[in-house]
Amino acid sequence: MAADTKSLYERLGGADVVASIANDIVDIHMANPVLNPRFKNSNPDELKILVRDFFAMGTGGPNNYKGKDMLSAHSGMNINETEMISTIDDVMVALDKNGVGQEEKNEVLAILYSLKNDILHV
Ligand code: HEM
Repeated sequence: MAADTKSLYERLGGADVVASIANDIVDIHMANPVLNPRFKNSNPDELKILVRDFFAMGTGGPNNYKGKDMLSAHSGMNINETEMISTIDDVMVALDKNGVGQEEKNEVLAILYSLKNDILHV
């Protein structure tokens, strides 16, 4: 089927939708009491660009992500499972908010889970 040949990035809706998802992820994290102590020194606008480009790169988009790899970005933070699940929950809320379908949500979930060894307890 033609739809199956499209990248996840394209099926999410491309640049505008991915940028909107990234903005929502950062805004929802900042309002989440489980996560926001971690981001008290963050610049939300800079983080939105990094999250947008990382998300786009990871789903097959053209963006040139200029941030750190996941191990370097989270190393020394000793992030726990509660924070990891809460982060994933926030991403799922952002996907819902942007009208992403269940199949694409499952694919994003699998990508996030695959990153856990570079993020948890490092
Ligand atoms: C699969 C899940 C996650 C992904 C894909 C992810 C992605 C990212 C990215 C792309 C950056 C920017 C890297 C850079 O500064 O160059 C980042 C930074 C960061 N992440 Fe994560 N992250 C995840 C999970 C978490 C969790 C669970 C926490 C803990 C609550 C967390 C806390 C942070 C913090 C504190 C920063 C630095 C923010 C800053 O410098 O302003 N991340 N993450």
